[in-house]
Amino acid sequence: MKKIVSLILAVFMALTFASCGASSGSPFDTESDRAPESDEAGNATVLLFSEKVNIRSDKNAELNFYGEAGKLWKIEYAVGSSSGSIEVDAASREATGVDAPAVSDDSHFRFFSRDINYDGNGDFAIQSRSAIGDVIPYYVWLWNETGGSFVFEGELENPIFSPEESKIYCTAVDRGIEYLRIYDVANGVVTFSNEQPLTGTPTFKSDLSSYEEYMAPADRDGYLILVNSENAIGENYIPKDLTNLVDTRSDRAAQQMTKTAAKALEAMYIEMRASGYTDVSVTSAYRSYTRQKEIFDMYLNMNLANGYDYDTAYAMVASDTALPGQSEHQTGLCCDMHNLSSASQAFANQEAYKWLKENCWKFGFILRYPDDKEDITKITFEPWHYRFVGRYHAAKMRAMGLCLEEYVKLLDQ
Ligand code: DAL
Ligand code: ZN
Repeated sequence: MKKIVSLILAVFMALTFASCGASSGSPFDTESDRAPESDEAGNATVLLFSEKVNIRSDKNAELNFYGEAGKLWKIEYAVGSSSGSIEVDAASREATGVDAPAVSDDSHFRFFSRDINYDGNGDFAIQSRSAIGDVIPYYVWLWNETGGSFVFEGELENPIFSPEESKIYCTAVDRGIEYLRIYDVANGVVTFSNEQPLTGTPTFKSDLSSYEEYMAPADRDGYLILVNSENAIGENYIPKDLTNLVDTRSDRAAQQMTKTAAKALEAMYIEMRASGYTDVSVTSAYRSYTRQKEIFDMYLNMNLANGYDYDTAYAMVASDTALPGQSEHQTGLCCDMHNLSSASQAFANQEAYKWLKENCWKFGFILRYPDDKEDITKITFEPWHYRFVGRYHAAKMRAMGLCLEEYVKLLDQ
């Protein structure tokens, strides 16, 4: 596989440099012959079968992928004074509709453009997937604009390029353990930064082996639902398998979460107690649409009664309480827990909070509304609110330093 990719790349590179300065027009006459997605800005034009395109518009940077199933494919590029094109005979390639290949050759290699990101510092990452048979690895093709030409720097499997951070995240399996590897990208140079195991069982003080199936569920991607002000869950959603939480605070009715999350939470409490933190309990978990509405309206009315005008009163509630239908409490995958009389940011000063923040990923949880992500989550810091996503993704988010909004966006690239 790699050999073929390298071969294609070598051909691509050879053609790129051989044809510098030999720019030519599109092989197709009309706009409708072109790829279905486009992003045009000034001299920079990108026409790609790609979900997202970031391209600089200030320096005549250009990458065009033209084509139509069954016809000739053409890749045009221009950066600074360097430009050229590659034509690809697609006759042997499988017709793929809108998920169109950019390059194909006689060995039935299919190359799909996926994403181009520009990090603002001269580095482009072209994310792509290629396929032979059932094998579909993902690649980042990294280029740097140096003196008017692109310099190829590297190729990694399963990568995600984050243009905001100029980092590449990718996974690697080493003796049965999957690792997240993080690379820094600067001036077209990729430097290894660090790695974090994503699979395998962390070391616990307690025997939690019977909880492993919950903390690291087989349905690894089944707990990533994003619910927030832009992603409503809907009035009628009721999660399955709601299960009483044994660690509900004693002065209230048993709170509930979906079974997998509830059992993973139970494991966290066993380990938390074994670590010396015995006074934390759950005050709220699953909340129905109706219950969330009651809570929102209660706080709103309280603020109105205290003399705030409606807009102010509303904004005050919305900063830390989701509107009904927009609360992830309705998913049954999160809970509020602390050791105070009521939820307060003062919990962040407690040793128990520090333990939870440091260790919750081992049980599949994330601190959902961190203090340094308020501008993204649109919810003020909640040291008491933990969300189950499963250990694999919790470990990854921790290593990447991303909140759920950022993480889901990156996965969706
Ligand atoms: N406090 C969180 C944001 C909620 O109400 O869902
Ligand atoms: Zn909460």
